[in-house]
Amino acid sequence: MCGIVGYIGKASAPSVLISGLRRLEYRGYDSAGMAILEDGSIVVSKAPGKVSALNDKAHADWPAERFVKSSTGIAHTRWATHGPPTEVNAHPHLDESGDIALVHNGIIENYRSLRTRMEAKGHHFYSETDTEVLAHLIGDRYQGDLFQAVCDALSQVEGTFGIAVISAKEPGKIITARRGSPIVIGVGEGETIVASDASAIIAHTRQVIYLEDNDIAVVTADHVDIRDLHQIPVAREVSELGFDAAAAEKGGFAHFMLKEIHEQPDSLRNAIRGRLDFNLGSSVLSGMGTSQRDLAEIQRVVFVGCGTSLHAGLVGEYAIEDMADLHAEVQQAAEFRYRNPIIGSRDLVVAISQSGETADTLAAVREANQKGAFVMGLCNVVGSTIARETGRGVYLHAGPEISVASTKAFTCQVAVMLMMALKLGRGRRFSRDEGMKFARAIESIPELVQKVIERSDSIAAIAAKYANDEHAFFIGRGPLYPVALEGALKLKEISYIHAEGYHAAELKHGPIALLQEGTPVIALANDIPGKDKTLGNVEECRARGARILGIVTEGDHEAMEAMDDVIEIPACHPLVSTIPTVVALQLLAYHIANARGCEIDQPRNLAKSVTVE
Ligand code: AGP
Repeated sequence: MCGIVGYIGKASAPSVLISGLRRLEYRGYDSAGMAILEDGSIVVSKAPGKVSALNDKAHADWPAERFVKSSTGIAHTRWATHGPPTEVNAHPHLDESGDIALVHNGIIENYRSLRTRMEAKGHHFYSETDTEVLAHLIGDRYQGDLFQAVCDALSQVEGTFGIAVISAKEPGKIITARRGSPIVIGVGEGETIVASDASAIIAHTRQVIYLEDNDIAVVTADHVDIRDLHQIPVAREVSELGFDAAAAEKGGFAHFMLKEIHEQPDSLRNAIRGRLDFNLGSSVLSGMGTSQRDLAEIQRVVFVGCGTSLHAGLVGEYAIEDMADLHAEVQQAAEFRYRNPIIGSRDLVVAISQSGETADTLAAVREANQKGAFVMGLCNVVGSTIARETGRGVYLHAGPEISVASTKAFTCQVAVMLMMALKLGRGRRFSRDEGMKFARAIESIPELVQKVIERSDSIAAIAAKYANDEHAFFIGRGPLYPVALEGALKLKEISYIHAEGYHAAELKHGPIALLQEGTPVIALANDIPGKDKTLGNVEECRARGARILGIVTEGDHEAMEAMDDVIEIPACHPLVSTIPTVVALQLLAYHIANARGCEIDQPRNLAKSVTVE
């Protein structure tokens, strides 16, 4: 996720901005930049890559006294969403006059229409970003009052924003505002810091003000004036930061994995936002770059991926076949090119990869391209190799995933594939009413996940009972079978417990020989088709002395009675149930690993992106 720092006070703005950006590096980014006020002008320095590259560039470009004189500035680390990570796309962005600079975190959904309107008025754009459009819109609205111009511009914006703005015409102030992307203001002694999260502030002060959605503030070195977008004053209390700088990098969470699990309601909103069409009962995945007519020519969907992404593809397989009357299959990316796949122009090959750099998946993309298939990517990192070499696809917008164990990427991958299935289905036999119903089911996913996250403490209490086991089995049927595989992978990769996922019916074909008194079996017995069969499998396991932890639908007392321990999941569409269920398993794995004192974010032997075969 992008990082924002703004400073106004008595210290050197460039130095404070660089150190603030360094505190935001953990959020993941691919370019950085800053703009400072000096002698009535705005001076900008930007660089692709790390903050250190920006620091080196600024010291190379700027005279030494600039690092001393300027005391007002804004800075940004960019996690690319529109346009690759280049210097020209890096923030800050300027308005047409060059007198106003802006940094932005979020997504402006109507930026294309706004840009067209600005271009018609003679504005010139240099980047591919949505943010540059907002800078020009503010400049276009400026008539001597920066606060008013920002209010007017934001009233025309659809989407999310956390912004900081400075103007050469109004030195000594920063305008900051938020809608959907956090902004926190640090109130120091004769200095004020604006940031996207507290980690950039804590080195200066613990006194902070959190803006609420649609708040806009005028910030000076010794005053903060907060209003709503109608310029009516609002009162926001000053609170005391409750954690130290080290913890602040994780937003107060003990591990990035826990932070990213908790981010899932927001990351899912970002993945879904603007992609459901409630008029047609379909989805809008413009990145697929093709018409319904062309999609109607597709005869098979082949998902390729590795690890967690492979498991996401297995869920996608169920969704596509269930809704689109299309044959779908999943192929392990490492096998794909060596098996000489029978792939052609009527096949849609979907490469699933959070990092967009996994070597095996990239190799599969190249093989599919060679065979003339219709290839697309499902990636989280904008401008990644797989995203570029597929040439089309759908970005997850999950924000950077730092922890090696993939969590929010998986749930966003599944959410996007449900929307793909809806799109393909509506091009075939899926009616508008069916489409509307499923679109509403997808729209409910963030709230379903939030309900599970609120049960984290009770899941932790259950986890403590399984933290000393050395083996575990996960079983599920239908779309919950891949979720069983994913739950087992989460547990094994962060707790080092030997965990295996099986189709519930498969256990009795051999693996049940491993069950003995007390062996834990995590049974995904949500109230969806196949539940009764799974409950039968649970009894087979219990008869061999296994201890059963059941994932069940809220209020399903029949299922609860079959279990030793229970985690309840809200009732929802069978395909949708995969997402809240996996979140429960993510939390279970996290709390077990935490109870075992494991190094959760960087498990032994693992890398976040496997860029070798
Ligand atoms: C999942 O927790 C692991 N980190 C791993 O299986 C990962 O999903 C796999 O390496 C694929 O990575 P990708 O999604 O970046 O291609």
